[in-house]
Amino acid sequence: MPEQAPLDFLGNLRRTHSCGQLRAADEGKRALLMGWVHRRRDLGGVIFIHLRDRDGVSQVVFHSDEKFAEVHAKADLLRSEYVIAVEGVVKGRTKETINPNIPTGEVEVVCDKIWILNESRTPPFPMEENVEVGEDARLKYRYVDLRRPRMQRNIMLRSKISLAVREVFYSQGFLEIETPFLTKSTPEGARDFLVPSRMYSGEFYALPQSPQIFKQLLMISGFEKYFQIVRCFRDEDLRADRQYEFTQIDVEMSFPQQESIFEVIEPLLERVCREAGFSVEAPFPRMTYAQAMRSYGIDKPDLRIPPFYCVEDLFPEDPAFATPGLPLVAIVIPNTGTVSRKDRDDLKAFGVERGLRVFDDMKRLERDAPEPMAKVRERTGAGENDLLFIAGWPSAPSGHRPEETVLQAAGQLRLFAANKFNDRHKLLDPAVFKFLWVVDFPMFEWNEEDNRWVAAHHPFTSVHDEDIDKLTADPARCRAKSYDIVLNGTELGSGSIRIHRRDVQSAVFSALGLSMEEAQKKFGFLLEALEFGAPPHGGIALGLDRLVMILAGEKSLRDVIPFPKTAKGTDLMCDAPSEVPDRNLRDLHIQVRTRKPS
Ligand code: AMO
Repeated sequence: MPEQAPLDFLGNLRRTHSCGQLRAADEGKRALLMGWVHRRRDLGGVIFIHLRDRDGVSQVVFHSDEKFAEVHAKADLLRSEYVIAVEGVVKGRTKETINPNIPTGEVEVVCDKIWILNESRTPPFPMEENVEVGEDARLKYRYVDLRRPRMQRNIMLRSKISLAVREVFYSQGFLEIETPFLTKSTPEGARDFLVPSRMYSGEFYALPQSPQIFKQLLMISGFEKYFQIVRCFRDEDLRADRQYEFTQIDVEMSFPQQESIFEVIEPLLERVCREAGFSVEAPFPRMTYAQAMRSYGIDKPDLRIPPFYCVEDLFPEDPAFATPGLPLVAIVIPNTGTVSRKDRDDLKAFGVERGLRVFDDMKRLERDAPEPMAKVRERTGAGENDLLFIAGWPSAPSGHRPEETVLQAAGQLRLFAANKFNDRHKLLDPAVFKFLWVVDFPMFEWNEEDNRWVAAHHPFTSVHDEDIDKLTADPARCRAKSYDIVLNGTELGSGSIRIHRRDVQSAVFSALGLSMEEAQKKFGFLLEALEFGAPPHGGIALGLDRLVMILAGEKSLRDVIPFPKTAKGTDLMCDAPSEVPDRNLRDLHIQVRTRKPS
């Protein structure tokens, strides 16, 4: 055990420099630095420490000659993560001792005064960048984890991006307006987090899944251009790109065309990418939902990977080969070179699990159907070094959009193959950013569980002008004025032009199977507001966490949120959720029926 360090008071000490600030030009100056002991080396007579603050690291030297004996003795007590202040003279390092890996590497501080401001228990894991640490330990000691360089970088990037977002919106005349957290359920398709009311027994507030209705009401109130960087809450299954609480960059405008919203978001994303050190150029490509499905089998195509091609028209109809009337898809993964039998079997098994019939023996197909296959090669551009395979569906799938079922399965197979061979073709480069607008989504999705149509985006979305009469007659083919912004295969944001007329909103509620009474009970206030001069309006919300995650090159939202929940929805640091005393429950008129076994 090291001797107990006597602790010093901060008194009226003030830093003169940050730990990342000192340069050769500061040689000869006195400096007073404060921070954490990052690393300590004791070379017999001389102790070196790397002192760290959020700005960087400086080397501090403690000599043992008589003149420095007192500070040297104190430095001997220092351990990892002790919090100290040091004062001394900035000295240039000799050529051989310059450290090119840190910006302050040309100098060091020769310490002649030291204050130990606090000790630290041995940290649960090292601070070094390249040490792998289990996520549970990181989340339990999150305040320590957040000190590590990677998390410092990510959280600072997040802050920089939030500032850039505010600057862009303010410069374009948007108003930042807050909306309530204690509110009524908003329908974004997930479960609500409910907050019981103490005053009204058996009644609940809901935490907002998004400020959707409020931002529409703000347009009705005449604010015209709104934005907010806002926390949203959704009780849905967690994944790497989903948290219970997450942050949206939420936007709404009055009198917009779809393109006017794109014209606001594109420069915003250009600017945000610049802040992260990358350059992207607007306008971003636009693609209809139907095109995205036909070419990528997904509504959020990753444009870094080439599309697939529908080739059913090239083959004579043969039910033994492919179900007539359904897509037959040729998938090309470039530059894979020779592919092993095992890899082919994996691809096949993945496709079959999703219901596809996968043809991977191109030699055989080329022998049996030379002409169609020559056309397949022509259409896809597949060369000798590329992997080519064809996927169809063995029998008619059920569902309201059978074609989509086939295309979606093929899209999953395409992604699986691209990921599998990524080390060969390097398509999925995290430093390449491919934005895409997907437009004209279907208005409705069939919900198997409830056996009814539900809004694909949300029920306040306008239907396409040409599709209004399909609302009840042919909901499967009804397109919405809705759009997504997609980045490298991730849905970054979604929005739509809203319904601003009460009669149309009522018609959509009725197409969704909501009776007049239900609609009135749930959204009566909105329906009423639409009767008081609601302007045409529309907007979008981008996931801030997802944006930062991709720009920081991370794979999980947990690495860009300071205090996230685990994949199981718990907070390991504060131990939430947790039981509360019976008295609190009584106040809230709540009785717990089953408790977690202790
Ligand atoms: P939507 O539900 O598509 O639209 O959400 C918009 C964006 O928010 C992000 N997001 C999430 N991020 C992390 N964890 C989650 N659980 C989560 N859920 C959503 C995504 C998504 O694209 N009110 C509409 C927007 C509008 O119409 O203006 C809405 O919330 O990046």
